[in-house]
Amino acid sequence: MHGTTVEQSLGVLKKLFAADVDPNRVAAIIVEPVQGEGGFYPVPVAFMKALREICDQHGILLIADEVQTGFARTGKLFAMEHYGVAADLTTMAKGLGGGFPIAAVTGRAEIMDAPGPGGLGGTYAGNPIGVAAAHAVLDVIKDEDLCNRAEQLGGRLKQRLASIREKAPEIVDIRGPGFMNAVEFNDVTTNLPSADFANKVRLKALEKGLILLTCGVYGNVIRFLAPITIQDGVFAEALDILEASILEVRA
Ligand SMILES: Cc1ncc(COP(=O)(O)O)c(C=O)c1O
Repeated sequence: MHGTTVEQSLGVLKKLFAADVDPNRVAAIIVEPVQGEGGFYPVPVAFMKALREICDQHGILLIADEVQTGFARTGKLFAMEHYGVAADLTTMAKGLGGGFPIAAVTGRAEIMDAPGPGGLGGTYAGNPIGVAAAHAVLDVIKDEDLCNRAEQLGGRLKQRLASIREKAPEIVDIRGPGFMNAVEFNDVTTNLPSADFANKVRLKALEKGLILLTCGVYGNVIRFLAPITIQDGVFAEALDILEASILEVRA
């Protein structure tokens, strides 16, 4: 993405290990399967598999940060399920509590069992109400088949964005698995990332009652993280506001 290939990225990592950091001194590599704040770029499958091999080769733990990607957001319960390789540890929060504050870490038993009793703690660790909320969320994900719902909602959003793109050439990319989607804007004259356009769309949508968030290293990406339980009518209204906002900003 942005012209960077899997091979180039792996080359940079190899160079880092050769010149700057002895891989035997690296405890862990943490990766978001789909970058959150960074711009909603999914890790390519080949890169994730290569990372797993590199970690195994040097005894490095692979940690998947699923704080944004977890709990049906990408169409699977966890985004790592898209990759055919497993992380050693997984961090999770946000969707886990369905709005209730709770975070968690899970992993291979030998790692999770390594700290002694009381060795893994925190002020809010094991909060009973938080744990009950997480249980309820897991039940709803299963009972309402939210992994499939995420695929459907994301499909509708990406389809709508593709049709808006025909009228708005500022849209240069539409991406993201399941219902973790983003749209990226460039300036039509310079063809450079346009944070200004993304921000104007965000403000126009806000005027019309739709809250959008931007992200990405250039700030030119709008990301969509609506609840997977959103009602069809509300979602349809949001898509209409999104389209109207993009078209009004470019008018
Ligand atoms: C991908 C990702 N990882 C980690 C965090 C931090 O999570 P917490 O606030 O539960 O520590 C966030 C918060 O926004 C996040 O988006």
